Amino acid sequence: MRIGMIGFGLIGQYLYKRAEADNNIEVKIIIDPHTQKPPWLPQNLFCKNLSELSEYDLDLVVEAANASAAIDMLPHIPQKASLFIVSSSSLANHNFYDALRERGEVNNSPIYIPHGAILGTDGIVAGRSLIESICITTRKAPKNLNLSENEIKDAVVVFNGSTREACLKFPANVNSHATIALAGLGFDKTQSIIIADPSVTTMSHEIEISGRGIHWHFKVESKAKGLVTGAYTPESIYQSLKMISGVEKGLSIV
Ligand SMILES: NC(=O)c1ccc[n+]([C@@H]2O[C@H](COP(=O)([O-])OP(=O)(O)OC[C@H]3O[C@@H](n4cnc5c(N)ncnc54)[C@H](O)[C@@H]3O)[C@@H](O)[C@H]2O)c1
Repeated sequence: MRIGMIGFGLIGQYLYKRAEADNNIEVKIIIDPHTQKPPWLPQNLFCKNLSELSEYDLDLVVEAANASAAIDMLPHIPQKASLFIVSSSSLANHNFYDALRERGEVNNSPIYIPHGAILGTDGIVAGRSLIESICITTRKAPKNLNLSENEIKDAVVVFNGSTREACLKFPANVNSHATIALAGLGFDKTQSIIIADPSVTTMSHEIEISGRGIHWHFKVESKAKGLVTGAYTPESIYQSLKMISGVEKGLSIV
């Protein structure tokens, strides 16, 4: 699988290093206009100009930059390439969502959203017809929500509303909410709560789902690795990439 990458920060660099040792994945181009090429990366792989993407023959474009970069990349994606969008909060933008759907239908090409920081999205997709309500509560330190440590001394709810609104207000911090919304009831019917808590060093997401005959309640917690990314996410995203790069031989959990 020949891939192009947009964004070469914490997740992008992790994916590149894992892909280098993977016979099924070949990185052809990496685009990041705002970061220096690390010395260990071959010069011919790195580029700062998004418009060059369309010149490459790619099977998949992997976005791991931010929500606005995900939206901006769309006109430059090679026609035959599928998409893999890590900044899933970008899909809360109606125009982008519609444009993605149209692209998928016209080109008959998949759009992948990795489960990322969250677990259990396969179960949510499978139970979608039974689900009646979903609430996700995220607790992070203020700096991991881009809020001032000086102003927030005790845990405080900084957002309670629809996931669509949460994605528009905190696009870098609620990708897990967006992914749950896409798996289940959509951006408007999913409830998002965000708590800024100066006492935590982890990023946690508590998910409560109710429906006809079901009640699920689970929590995932990771140590913060970067400002917006927890310890589990980069490896989780690589495993999703690996899954779509080829069917594993032998036993699979599906
Ligand atoms: N789906 C999930 O569960 C999940 C979990 C954590 C993070 N994320 C999201 O993944 C994305 C990457 O996270 P990260 O920790 O690697 O962030 P990061 O800040 O370490 O890296 C982002 C990189 O994108 C680059 N960038 C910015 N604008 C760009 C553009 N227009 N084109 C190309 N590159 C651009 C930056 O220079 C930076 O190198 C963020 O949007 C983050 O919110 C998603």
